[in-house]
Amino acid sequence: MTDAYAVFGNPIGHSKSPRIHAAFAHSTRQDIRYAAIEAPLGGFAEALRAFRASGGRGANVTAPFKLDAYAAADALSERALAAGAVNALKFEQGRVLGENFDGVGLVRDIEANLRFSLAGRRVLLLGAGGAARGAAPALLARHPAALVIANRHPGKAQELAAALAPLGGVDACGYDDLARRPPFDVVLNSTSASWSGERPPAPSACFARGGLAYELVYGKGLTPFLAQAKAAGAEVLADGVGMLVEQAAEAFLWWRGVRPDTRPVIAALTIPLE
Ligand code: ATR
Repeated sequence: MTDAYAVFGNPIGHSKSPRIHAAFAHSTRQDIRYAAIEAPLGGFAEALRAFRASGGRGANVTAPFKLDAYAAADALSERALAAGAVNALKFEQGRVLGENFDGVGLVRDIEANLRFSLAGRRVLLLGAGGAARGAAPALLARHPAALVIANRHPGKAQELAAALAPLGGVDACGYDDLARRPPFDVVLNSTSASWSGERPPAPSACFARGGLAYELVYGKGLTPFLAQAKAAGAEVLADGVGMLVEQAAEAFLWWRGVRPDTRPVIAALTIPLE
């Protein structure tokens, strides 16, 4: 019988997940169907219940429901607990299991696809919201020489750094403070600034020559953040398409026990950074 999966979000029309999972199912010969479900705001738990009752086997969860999914899970993985959010669910023996593959997807894209090792590097994470919370534990697990989190409201960055303390040393600051620090080999933009065509106010001196600049948002081309990084001498520029496909592959592996080849899917979805 065909197993049913879905991605929940609001809005969900833009989601690439159905296309990604259809490609994975095809290449691994898995008999699944995968839908996009727009749950009403405040109606995630009910929509999830209905999907389970209709025979659903698992789900991906995107904005704004990652905290609702965290609350809906009967059991949470260490990664979900560290991120404080859930982006993948599996329904097993009457229970809802919650996972978070955003951070591991990001790190796989950086290290396996972009071939940029994080160990011993100076890493700067811009923003301290949900996306930063998902990314930071996975970055720390790769043993960077330093991880600094900068945010407009530095108190929020400090709170996140304090929550991460058991996982490794993290420094927090405001954007002004960045000018006083040595440049960073890896700068990641986890803020929502690119959605509105803005960029976080990081000084150009933050970017080490030959380094990596990573925009967690995908499909927006050369965003103001990436344009700044390029002008400042960053050598590798990336948007979040690889992260998106890699987190999907982790969920697929979790559900189906088989890891799909991500390269052709990333290639098909990549929009040149111009
Ligand atoms: P998400 O789940 O996408 O991370 P969020 O939790 O609302 O969304 O967090 C948005 C992040 O983007 C925050 O770190 C926010 O900074 P503040 O906490 O100081 O508000 C950051 N952000 C949004 N727009 C920004 C901008 N134009 N410049 C810099 N940071 C911005």
